[in-house]
Amino acid sequence: RVAWVNGRFRPRQRAAIPIDDRAVLFADSVYEVCEVFGGALVDLTAHLDRLDRSLRELAMAAPMGRRALTVVMRETARRNRVRDGMVYVQVSRGAAPRDFLFPDPPAKPTLIVTARSIDRAAAEARAVQGMAVITTPDIRWGRVDIKTTGLLPNVLAKEAARLRGAREAWLTDRDGFITEGGSSNAWIITQAGVLVTRPADGGILRGVTRGTLLRLVQEMGLPVEERAFTRAEALAAREAFVTAATTLVAPVIRIDDEAIGDGRPGALTLELRRRLHDVAE
Ligand code: PDD
Repeated sequence: RVAWVNGRFRPRQRAAIPIDDRAVLFADSVYEVCEVFGGALVDLTAHLDRLDRSLRELAMAAPMGRRALTVVMRETARRNRVRDGMVYVQVSRGAAPRDFLFPDPPAKPTLIVTARSIDRAAAEARAVQGMAVITTPDIRWGRVDIKTTGLLPNVLAKEAARLRGAREAWLTDRDGFITEGGSSNAWIITQAGVLVTRPADGGILRGVTRGTLLRLVQEMGLPVEERAFTRAEALAAREAFVTAATTLVAPVIRIDDEAIGDGRPGALTLELRRRLHDVAE
């Protein structure tokens, strides 16, 4: 196992960043998770685009150019023999004595790249079983459109889900609308067969998988609405699912212990999952 840290590969066990790195002190850092499917990095361009946007929004310098970063990501997957799994990329504003203000002159950004394999068959078997989700208030900050490592609210929400036997938490805004999952975007399919997911207008992270699926369902000619939906509407839905780089499309079968549809993964959800896998391959 090796990790890329600031310009070189290190054995994973000994890979480290300074204690005054701003990722450690302030979560002053952004990240991407890119799925590896049969050796290929899925939706790589979209992930790099979003990383660029996150950096720009926080006035953070890129650690290297896109081409070089792509080489490092591929090489990290290769050196860790990852054919199926994920590549993790994190960029921080660098190491500097603790001060809220940006370091002046700017510090050298810290780049971390790691890769991990998953057992595709086991993940597939688990995913098609469907998952339970809970709903819990969205207590995150106002810039959830930026993919920062400041994920404590997400950690707490997902841990609360686990304690209630669920795998994901659907976060609800003050008006009772679902924003997204702790680490995924939320979707429902209404009784009329309309796919519904919240618009990426600032209240959610604009998921790369969400974007890919939106294009796919439009190509398929399926009715889709980008609008907010409530917990009540989700409970009355025919099907529900989440999207994320790590799971692509994963069926949701229970919300707060109430069954969705017949309590089994929805037929359209499973078809979309298959199709997205075909696109990824
Ligand atoms: N999470 N919303 C949130 C809050 C997320 O953390 C993620 C991804 C998504 C889905 O985005 P995408 O389709 O681009 O993966 C939505 C990653 C997988 C993670 O933190 O592990």
